[in-house]
Amino acid sequence: MPSLASSLERRFDAAVRIAEQAGALALSLRPPPGAATVATLKSAQNWLTEADGATEAFVARALAEAFPEDGFQGEETGGGRTGRLRWVLDPIDGTSNFARGADRWCVSLGLIEDRTALLGVLVAPAMGETFAARQGHGATRNGAPIRAAATTDLRRAIVEVGWSPRRPNDIYWQLVRDVMNAGASARGSGSGAMGLADVAAGRLDAYVERHINLWDVAGALAILAEAGAQVSPFLEGDGPTSGNPILAAAPGIAEALAGAIGFTDW
Ligand code: IPD
Ligand code: CA
Repeated sequence: MPSLASSLERRFDAAVRIAEQAGALALSLRPPPGAATVATLKSAQNWLTEADGATEAFVARALAEAFPEDGFQGEETGGGRTGRLRWVLDPIDGTSNFARGADRWCVSLGLIEDRTALLGVLVAPAMGETFAARQGHGATRNGAPIRAAATTDLRRAIVEVGWSPRRPNDIYWQLVRDVMNAGASARGSGSGAMGLADVAAGRLDAYVERHINLWDVAGALAILAEAGAQVSPFLEGDGPTSGNPILAAAPGIAEALAGAIGFTDW
């Protein structure tokens, strides 16, 4: 019987390969700039393109063939198979960017056991980037090791504040105000997964959002942990089923930022 380590290594290699193939498929289906009408709305500002479904179908099939004993959950089709290990896929995170022909989006694939993220892969083909990590083996960008930033002063910090229509706009504005009043700069770039990857790579100091779903973060959690970022306990409580807030931050500013934004789930 293969050890857990060797079975995780096999799954990690397959996850990178399948996510990169999925990224190439999605990229081939990306609409040109200015063609936002090819996307439909699941609800206001909640985008869906044909590429989301096609990419999810590709990954679901590839994983079912390679690991029929594993569970699978995708953003577009929901559950499906259950198992001790659960693959969680966001076929395109940053769909609003994708639908506009922009580059900042990715395929996000994570493997979770109960409330632990075992490995994760984020493939951003239009940016030529693959982020990957397996528990205990470090995090990489295009194969090179990455670390969260060494920032210790909030006045030097750059923080992405995620927005979705799932929470009232006033809650978002309050969060932006708190971040800026703490001395940091606030920005939003339309892909939670890519924002989290930037925290892991030291290109952002923090990513915060008052509610985000499991599939948006599942690919990033192992990458953040292995890169030394401090992350709120997303997988506790209802996180795996109905989502949670998230704060992922460079360790040197994490406590100060959490205090400044009243982040109690920390
Ligand atoms: C959304 C993006 C966005 C984040 C939202 C997500 P989608 O996912 O990651 O940046 O703020 O919470 O729902 O719709 O692009 O897959
Ligand atoms: Ca998403």
